[in-house]
Amino acid sequence: MAIAPYQLGFSAAHQEGEFNALPIQGTIPSWLRGSLIRTGPGTLEVGQQSYHHWFDGLAMLRKFSFEDGRVSFANRFLESQAYREAKSKGKISRGEFGTTARHSFLERLTDPLPRLTDNATVNITMQGDRFVSVTESPFPIIFDPQSLNTIDQFHYHDHVPGQITTAHPHFDYRENAVYSYLVNLIPRCSYSIYRMDAHSNERTLIGSIPVKQPAYMHTFSMTEHYIILSEYPLKLNRLSLMLSGKPYIENYQWKSDKQTRFLIISKETGEVVHSAESEPFFSFHHVNAFEQNGEVVVDLIAYSDSAVIQSLYLESLLEHPEQVIAAGELRRYRIPLNEAIAHFEVLTSEPVELPRINYQRCNTRPYQFVYGVGSSRSGNFIDQLVKVDIQNRTTQIWRSPDCYPGEPVFVAAPNTTSEDEGVILSVVLNAQTQNSFLLVLDAQSWNELARVELPYHLPFDFHGQYFDAIVPTERTQLHR
Ligand code: CO
Repeated sequence: MAIAPYQLGFSAAHQEGEFNALPIQGTIPSWLRGSLIRTGPGTLEVGQQSYHHWFDGLAMLRKFSFEDGRVSFANRFLESQAYREAKSKGKISRGEFGTTARHSFLERLTDPLPRLTDNATVNITMQGDRFVSVTESPFPIIFDPQSLNTIDQFHYHDHVPGQITTAHPHFDYRENAVYSYLVNLIPRCSYSIYRMDAHSNERTLIGSIPVKQPAYMHTFSMTEHYIILSEYPLKLNRLSLMLSGKPYIENYQWKSDKQTRFLIISKETGEVVHSAESEPFFSFHHVNAFEQNGEVVVDLIAYSDSAVIQSLYLESLLEHPEQVIAAGELRRYRIPLNEAIAHFEVLTSEPVELPRINYQRCNTRPYQFVYGVGSSRSGNFIDQLVKVDIQNRTTQIWRSPDCYPGEPVFVAAPNTTSEDEGVILSVVLNAQTQNSFLLVLDAQSWNELARVELPYHLPFDFHGQYFDAIVPTERTQLHR
């Protein structure tokens, strides 16, 4: 069996902990005052059982707080129902993205329908003034941003229909509102597009778009006037989802004879104002979108098909590193509002994933910089950070021996003029020293400013957000 040097990143965190002042090599900018809160698997095992896919592990929150050049840190499991049941039974209790929960005959008799997981392991956001960890089932988990204690499931005061959602809602700073969608499967399939005011618990259904077979979509885009869904030909078999007992994602089928379809939906009326098709492709992450000269421009990370999902099963990650697809192609799709075909251009030859931008300044607008993780060679998973200047078509790379970086979060410096004035925060696994560190890069020069060393490793995670206020008693501004 081939042993990949990055395999430590898929083994459980050794402990939950809290540290007030971590050792720092270098200097943290004194203006950096706030907290980076992230979520991702804390363990991929329960008792004697293993989850099968990287996206399945039980969620653990991680928090880095910055004040006066010092950094404190805490990590804690998110105590979702899925977590508590797993702990009390000593086995996997709820099905996840790529793992089914096997129940005994007696359990199936008393509880025949599979329960949706609330294991919120994908992203952090704010809903109705609460800090929540979220996944693709519509059950955000509220936590205390100070202690990282789990508080409760977030309850919406509405009846917007849907059972599947995205962990990447969009925030409209002009309207001070969240836009997102649910996939509704009952009684017929539709996409429910909704809006929710920043301080509200109530979603407003803007539009309901009927669909025969919903596509698996991890993110979407937003422009000034539109919501853009991209329906890849990875289509849900609803009966199979309800009856097959297969893991969630295995109820979707890749249909290579079908196109990818972009739906341009009015934020005001919820109606599909235009749709356009392109050659089939798959994507997890849209990067940004905007309207320009009668076109909608959508930047995203594309794959020629959905094989990337298969390649992120643990068996592939741990035993067949050479088969792992760790990053995709940064493409720009142009969708003319009077044509039914979307064309793309490739913005960089560097592979990119987990893309971030200066969100508050650039989302829905033309922009210049994309930050992401990348891969320098096949078989080495994610081993570099990349900054892409999409206007000048240049890239800057950060790499360090045996180091595996996570999602680069951009934090703008105060009172800036340039889009890239600020820092990049990325949690990096060092396979040599067997621990993780927080890397602080100057986002403009791409030079290292500091490494903040942790006493142990953290499993690879997915997404996180930076919040200005360490003590979030006042309204906290979300940067994405
Ligand atoms: Co994501």
